[in-house]
Amino acid sequence: MVKQPKAAVFASGTGSNFQALMESTLACDICMLVCDRAEAEVVQKARHFQLRTIQFDPTRFLSKQDYEQMLVEKLHEEKIEWIFLAGYMRIIGHILLEAYEGKIINIHPSLLPAFPGKDAIRQAWDRKVRTTGVTIHFVDEGIDTGAIIAQESVAISPEDTLDLLTQKIHQVEHRLYPKTINLLLHSCTNK
Ligand code: GRF
Repeated sequence: MVKQPKAAVFASGTGSNFQALMESTLACDICMLVCDRAEAEVVQKARHFQLRTIQFDPTRFLSKQDYEQMLVEKLHEEKIEWIFLAGYMRIIGHILLEAYEGKIINIHPSLLPAFPGKDAIRQAWDRKVRTTGVTIHFVDEGIDTGAIIAQESVAISPEDTLDLLTQKIHQVEHRLYPKTINLLLHSCTNK
């Protein structure tokens, strides 16, 4: 059997994208969850999958460099090659960016560069745009500014509520993230 690269998911919240990745057939093995909030629902989800979880409290570290250094050590111990962010609510700093250059991917619920940052679905809703969507992109030092890998649009119809729109976006996310990861990993192995 071909040995697949190992990946970690970083998440802070509900973990529906984490779950979608765990339930997909991927061209990598997800071996670890990294979570910065002990009470996050995603931690329960990881338990269900019996997945190794690194749960850390950023306030217990002197600096971002310190906790990122700890994370890089754990990721290297496990020989993790890829990091997939899925609702991870922290800006990735230079320690992780240098250790995983070109190997950190994020999913964002808008058509970037429109509506970066927090509450992107609500931002689009409040602006009354007709179309929003989902973006998968490489992570750089900015907030949702890295090179775009894939996008899919979602129409906002007059019948939509913010809740309905949120559901529609999540449905697209759960399909687009695994599909894009597989395309990316295949293109890397074919190089
Ligand atoms: C998703 O909408 C994702 O695009 C954004 O954060 C949300 C996480 O949702 N980055 P979940 O925790 O995966 O349900």
